[in-house]
Amino acid sequence: MPARLSLNAISKHYGPESQQVTALNEVSLSLEEGEFLAIQGPSGSGKSTLLNICGLIDHPSSGDYHLNGIAVAQLNEQQRCTHRRQMIGFIFQRHQLIPAMTVYENIAYPLLLNNISAKNTRYEVEQILTTLDLMQRRKHLPRQLSGGERQRVGIARALIKRPQLVIADEPSASLDHQHTHTGLQLMRELNQAFGASFLIASHDPFVIDHCDRRISLLDGRMDDRA
Ligand SMILES: Nc1ncnc2c1ncn2[C@@H]1O[C@H](COP(=O)(O)OP(=O)(O)O)[C@@H](O)[C@H]1O
Ligand SMILES: [Mg+2]
Repeated sequence: MPARLSLNAISKHYGPESQQVTALNEVSLSLEEGEFLAIQGPSGSGKSTLLNICGLIDHPSSGDYHLNGIAVAQLNEQQRCTHRRQMIGFIFQRHQLIPAMTVYENIAYPLLLNNISAKNTRYEVEQILTTLDLMQRRKHLPRQLSGGERQRVGIARALIKRPQLVIADEPSASLDHQHTHTGLQLMRELNQAFGASFLIASHDPFVIDHCDRRISLLDGRMDDRA
């Protein structure tokens, strides 16, 4: 089942009251089931903050967020964690791989957490390793990889469990054109085969053009001129 998001007047402030930074200022948006949405905007405009809130990694300061009709504010930490694990694949800008795990183990980990058998895990992981050109790197540790390889492992780890919602924070930042193309193709396959919804922050025109719709952020607000 694909995911549906609805954000209503979401704001996020960081820091103590005397020196508060407003990262998001009453942002409202909806993501339909199976939609591929790009979020563009200059550095510091609030893209990562928005994605972290949508991905249940961070809490908004105010506003309502519904995920598949569920009021996220009502969930306790345990429920948030379960939703994150089962529904959401998050591609981090800085990949956030587990340093002590090999490439294979990093990618297999989400399947392990979701109780997939070792045999199926092996099949799935080897398939995505091949697609993303990582087979030769499967026994390496993250620190032994190039930036682009780490980014591809991050993409594989997010997509491997076929989540209903994929959130990607500048997924092509350290990728060359060919691997960006492959990554987007994999995302589209997941979108078409399972109807997964996508929320992608990027300022790469190639990525943005690939999306169905785009919204722009400027200083934490939706920029309607774009
Ligand atoms: N943890 C934090 N503490 C304080 N300020 C933050 C924090 N994270 C982000 N900010 C500030 O919030 C604003 C939006 O940041 P961010 O969401 O990272 O934007 P983007 O991803 O578009 O570059 C920036 O002014 C940034 O400095
Ligand atoms: Mg960012």
